[in-house]
Amino acid sequence: MKYESQRIAYWFFATCMLLFGLQIVYGFIMAFAHAGLDGLHDWIPFHTARATHTNLLVMWNLCGFMGAAYYIIPEEVERELYWPTLAKVQLAALVAVGVTAIIGFHVGWFEGRKFLEIPRPLDYLVVIDVLLFIANIGMTIWKGKRITTTSAVLFFGLLMAALLYLPGMIPTDNQTVDSYWRWWVVHLWVEGVWELIMGGILAFLLIKLTGVDREVIEKWLYVIVGLTFLSGILGTGHHYYYIGTPSYWLWIGGLFSALEPLAFLGMAIYGITMAKKGGRKHPNRTALAWTVGCCVMSFVGAGFLGFAHTLPQVNMYTHGTLVTATHGHMAFWGAYAMLVLAIITYAMPLLTGRKRHDAPSGIFAFWTSNIGMISMTIAFGIAGVTQVTLERRMGMEFLAVQEEIEMHFWGLIMAATLFTFGIIAFLYDFIRYGLPKGEIDVAARSPEPEAEDEGALVAAPGAAE
Ligand code: HEM
Ligand code: HEM
Ligand SMILES: [Fe+2]
Repeated sequence: MKYESQRIAYWFFATCMLLFGLQIVYGFIMAFAHAGLDGLHDWIPFHTARATHTNLLVMWNLCGFMGAAYYIIPEEVERELYWPTLAKVQLAALVAVGVTAIIGFHVGWFEGRKFLEIPRPLDYLVVIDVLLFIANIGMTIWKGKRITTTSAVLFFGLLMAALLYLPGMIPTDNQTVDSYWRWWVVHLWVEGVWELIMGGILAFLLIKLTGVDREVIEKWLYVIVGLTFLSGILGTGHHYYYIGTPSYWLWIGGLFSALEPLAFLGMAIYGITMAKKGGRKHPNRTALAWTVGCCVMSFVGAGFLGFAHTLPQVNMYTHGTLVTATHGHMAFWGAYAMLVLAIITYAMPLLTGRKRHDAPSGIFAFWTSNIGMISMTIAFGIAGVTQVTLERRMGMEFLAVQEEIEMHFWGLIMAATLFTFGIIAFLYDFIRYGLPKGEIDVAARSPEPEAEDEGALVAAPGAAE
């Protein structure tokens, strides 16, 4: 850690951990409800649990991205954050809005638009908060000593994520128009600008963890950004098949979304190649496991499982079923949850000054949560395919099918329990690291951009960065 203000990242990461834990609790509430045990129904009906589960997910992912940016940007552009106090205020305000939204869901204050359930007045507060964050990061880059491709891609992704929240707020009482704009947020986030954020954070991690030249890593970043834009923007059409938009979306959506896995394939090859090229000299092996794991699992969840239901001929049957949840879990986990856990695993030894990166609990967390999530995906997949066959192909009634597939949710609960053990190990590690009291490595700062030699950090025996 080179700058004092990078410490702020810790508080964002701690918030992530808290919200992630809570998200899992709501996942179990829904899994039991699906299995036929819905005892909490009067207090937490399914739609409340679902909105809470997914909104907590988005919230902790965003907190993770913000923490990552507060850690990465000062180091990349070589200066302290422009407004460190604002960063703390901005976190506190975001948490306040989040808590209000979650309480709101439990008392029926909610918009009922999947993933965008937060009521309108709170949306405005989210926008203001995120714009303050963008301003802070933007000023830091503007006043920094250098602008790297990594920092520029990360910043652009974050800026566009903030701006793309706005179409979801366009008022309309037309269901089709509302759905049309909703996908500008939901799709263009996860299959567009969040991929840029992912590219930026991965580039930073790979530069630090593999010691491969920045030039090589950043060249790949251009390729990934190019592939993302080429496929992801018009790929939005894969959500427009059956919502009442013109039929030309069938082939536009089908064609372009079928190309989307290329960007994720690019990331998988990129992560594996860089890890091989750079060797494994960096002491924080667990962080490298999360980083390469993220590259690979995002391809499986987003690329492979996304492709599996993206053509209109398939989506006609699978739309809005548990097949979507199968893909949703693995894609979010592989791409964005693992990404945030990777940057946390990398940054914690530096933020806290405690070199616990060899602790067995770290690698236990990695494997157990991943095996758990793969098993969850299989359980959801079996339930989903059965649902599609019975309901969409054979014409059975929706609730009758839900009863038929109840038993698959016991499988889900077992898999989710395994997953949760992994996450508990991660949380345990996080707590054991303690508070952000790590030393500032002033010597690592370079007076001139050219003088920076990332490789030297890796080669130094026992170096933690
Ligand atoms: C990391 C990237 C991705 C994430 C996090 C993600 C996540 C999700 C989520 C949560 C949904 C449900 C949304 C809703 O119904 O409101 C969804 C739907 C969908 N995703 Fe993805 N996805 C990703 C990438 C992809 C890719 C690359 C493809 C195609 C190759 C794809 C294809 C689809 C399709 C076709 C649907 C609609 C399913 C339906 O009609 O019910 N996704 N995705
Ligand atoms: C203990 C762990 C978890 C359990 C038991 C669980 C269970 C569930 C259930 C039952 C649903 C509702 C499916 C439906 O609509 O019928 C759901 C939705 C969802 N969960 Fe989880 N979940 C867990 C963890 C996670 C994690 C770690 C992530 C992301 C990294 C995640 C992402 C999602 C998403 C994106 C949806 C919405 C899917 C869609 O739109 O179809 N969940 N979860
Ligand atoms: Fe999409």
